[in-house]
Amino acid sequence: MYNLISKAVFSHRLNKQEIVSLLSNDDCNEVLFKAADEIRKKFVGDEIHLRALIEFSNICQNNCCYCGLRRDNKNIIRYRLDEDSIFHLAEYAVTQLGLKTIVLQSGEDLWFSQERLCALIRRIKTLDTALTLSIGEKTHDDYLAYKNAGCDRFLLRIETTDKALYEKYDPDMSWNKRKQCLLDIKSVGLETGTGCLVGLPNQTIESLADDILFFKEIGADMVGIGPLIPHPDTPLAQAEGGTFTLACKVMALTRLILPDINIPATTAMETLEPNGQLKALQSGANVIMPNVTLSDVRQHYELYPGKSSTNLASCDALVSFKQKLISIGRTIGQDYGAHKKSAEI
Ligand code: 5AD
Ligand code: SF4
Repeated sequence: MYNLISKAVFSHRLNKQEIVSLLSNDDCNEVLFKAADEIRKKFVGDEIHLRALIEFSNICQNNCCYCGLRRDNKNIIRYRLDEDSIFHLAEYAVTQLGLKTIVLQSGEDLWFSQERLCALIRRIKTLDTALTLSIGEKTHDDYLAYKNAGCDRFLLRIETTDKALYEKYDPDMSWNKRKQCLLDIKSVGLETGTGCLVGLPNQTIESLADDILFFKEIGADMVGIGPLIPHPDTPLAQAEGGTFTLACKVMALTRLILPDINIPATTAMETLEPNGQLKALQSGANVIMPNVTLSDVRQHYELYPGKSSTNLASCDALVSFKQKLISIGRTIGQDYGAHKKSAEI
């Protein structure tokens, strides 16, 4: 196991079988986490990039079996922020909280047409900020329009590279189409973020290894990995869900194989384990996405239980969080935190 970790540290290459061996053996987890921490330091430094997350609509046309926002869930109150409210939240995040990236996230809500979104993108880009969209599957023409309006990045998790599993848990959706969306995002010149869920029922270690190799294959600029947390109002209510440790291992291996990308310490990790985000930041992650959505609507953006409790929206909460980051020897990113490609890989 030690040899495999050193091989990954020096070459950033592992084959599927080697990744499977590391994921299935828990004897060297701490060594793996430390190696990922060192590679993070070497390639992306000590800076942690903070991205302001605005969850602007929880309306979704899809029916993913794991997600609390699925269209068949009648137990949530649906909301959609208007353009002015979204802009003012973004303005607050940039001017009052000093954040350098705005992430607009929503369910697949068709009310936000290409025209409306492009107007919003242009407006937010008058602020001194990078802009990321995380709004689901769109057409090539849409992605191109977002890019031309000034959008910098787009997040779309592949969720799993196991096609049969994907199509089972994301009914009416096509894995090939999802992959094509990622290729389209990349081809229009948006920084491309993807990622996966860890702990779907019947997900194999082999398919998690494929997920990591997939991130490399498509040339991901960012990868977000989170454990599945069963939501009571979904078909996966009784599922076991993912573990913090396995999600952290997939994340650490992703750092070893794609050493210079941006990797968030996801909220789902914090939900499963106290100080989970800090542990993730010490196991390969270099990004945090503080949620700046106001709590009156944020409580309804419940992808999974316990999610809505993390609150960094106020200046005070953010200052004390930054102190925590400094206490583990890190600094706060002062630029937009784009993916800086290393010539060394
Ligand atoms: N547990 C953990 N993550 C979830 N997501 C959706 N539902 C859950 C859940 N129950 C993740 C998906 C999606 C992202 C926005 O949230 O991976 O891409
Ligand atoms: Fe909609 Fe995304 Fe939830 Fe699927 S995971 S139901 S696409 S919000």
